[in-house]
Amino acid sequence: MCGICACIGNFLCKDFIIDGLKKLEYRGYDSAGISFIDNNALKVIKTVGDIDALSKLAEGVKADAIIGHTRWATHGGVTVENAHPHLSKSGKLAIVHNGVIENYKDLKAQMDVEWKSSTDSEVFVNLIERQKEDCLIRKVISASKKVEGSFAIALLSADGEIVAGRRENPLYIAEVDGGFVATSDLYVLSEKTENYFALENDEFAVLKKSGVEFYDKNGEKIAKKQQKIEKFNKISAKFKNTHMESEIFEAKDVLEKTLDFYLKYGFSTIKIPKNLQEINFIACGTAYHSGLVAAEYFKKIGLPSHTYIASEFRYGNEVLNLNALYVFISQSGETADTIASAKLIKESGCKMLAVTNTQNCFLNQICQNVLPTFAGKEIAVASTKAYLAQVFSLYLFACFLGGRDVKEASDAVSKFEIVDFPDSLTQYALKFKKIIFVGRGLDYITALEASLKLKEISYINSIAIASGELKHGTLALVDNETLVVGILTQQKTREKFLTNLEEVKARGGEILLVSNCIEEGYNCLTLPNCAEDLMPIYSVVPLQIFALKMCKKLGFNPDKPRNLAKSVTVE
Ligand code: M6R
Repeated sequence: MCGICACIGNFLCKDFIIDGLKKLEYRGYDSAGISFIDNNALKVIKTVGDIDALSKLAEGVKADAIIGHTRWATHGGVTVENAHPHLSKSGKLAIVHNGVIENYKDLKAQMDVEWKSSTDSEVFVNLIERQKEDCLIRKVISASKKVEGSFAIALLSADGEIVAGRRENPLYIAEVDGGFVATSDLYVLSEKTENYFALENDEFAVLKKSGVEFYDKNGEKIAKKQQKIEKFNKISAKFKNTHMESEIFEAKDVLEKTLDFYLKYGFSTIKIPKNLQEINFIACGTAYHSGLVAAEYFKKIGLPSHTYIASEFRYGNEVLNLNALYVFISQSGETADTIASAKLIKESGCKMLAVTNTQNCFLNQICQNVLPTFAGKEIAVASTKAYLAQVFSLYLFACFLGGRDVKEASDAVSKFEIVDFPDSLTQYALKFKKIIFVGRGLDYITALEASLKLKEISYINSIAIASGELKHGTLALVDNETLVVGILTQQKTREKFLTNLEEVKARGGEILLVSNCIEEGYNCLTLPNCAEDLMPIYSVVPLQIFALKMCKKLGFNPDKPRNLAKSVTVE
């Protein structure tokens, strides 16, 4: 969370930084700022708000070395004082920081500084300044040994030098138009250059107009190899209103790409334990939901399977099985809890697999066994197409392990169409204070995902529950201000599910049914048909559109849900 971007060179640094920060905004958009040299002194411009607000304040800035930041608050509220960059006591050093310095309170207590903010980052820049070493890079390396936690940083000195470094949070370096850039995300570099250097944990870089030098944690110069940047999707011309909208409408493309790739290349490169006894999924948020769906697919081919929330798993007491495969699902490949869980499994010697949508991400590096998903770059905080890619890739993987035909998958993709969520039903849903999503089996998982999407971007009070559980407590919430959205695509429990809906009706709750069967007596959104196991792919898309339409009707921006950011790189 938080995005940093720094650049130095005789090119349009300010324009590059503003454009870069705009691309990084999905990592946090509470506040933003830049620092540059003006009349031989460091100047800082920062504001609460987004990059457009910053851009206006920065009009007319001309500088050939700038560091910039877009923030998702961790330590300290959303205020101008807490926005980055932060200056050191002397004012000769400015820092932008992504991460959390866990021992900042102890460090702070040892310093005599008039603090301007409540951030851990201001402590870090002062710690760096206090180091006795004779040059900035050595001071940074020395200070990095004293901090606990995670960081990706860029520092600008009043002498015009930029030093960057990282631990646990990503940082990439590249040459652009004869200048040099450090940034949290390769997306910033797309269309600007084809090559980049990835800093590893506790590696540092000095960026000068004349070139870039890399250092290890002992301060030794190191040589690094350039890597190639993959192409990023552009927003399709047809749906360019918001990232979320454009990404939902890429669904068919994503399914086709996934099918094409896995039909062509199969899963033979994936390392699986010889005596595979069980398969377990570990993830957060939407990726956790795709793990829940996947577990059902693997159970159907006879493999015991469990899905864990990463933030619970890492502190839990799970008994590990050396003959199990531990699968970490993450769109970004950067999620702190998922990474921490993967590190735990690595230590145990169990086999692991990363299911990620991001080239060369941390999770891939840890697992060294990767099942890529083909959603293309996902920018919107609310994950939509990545969920489809995860569910569908894992369905194909289960078919492969279970020796099953993929004909149903090919049919589902060829018949796939985006089912719009009608405006009339959106209008109807707007009158309710609470929305409860219900389903059974795979439909319950879709309910969880639909509810997450709705609350995430429209802030409507919503929960999801397995419909059989309603009368064990949640039914008490149902009144005439409650809309219950029932998802019905699984035939085994159809009658039981309809009985559960009747129980809701009897308590004054209103019902909206999303189903591939026509049921009399309900407001119904009808879905097309495909193999039952793949119905989660068909049913989730109109529910994503439902969340999007509710969000827009309520006047919110779906790409910037409050309090959230795309990559959750802190615990
Ligand atoms: O990058 P990841 O897939 O690891 O992210 C996990 C969750 O943070 C993410 O899915 C989150 O729940 C989405 N914002 C939901 O739309």
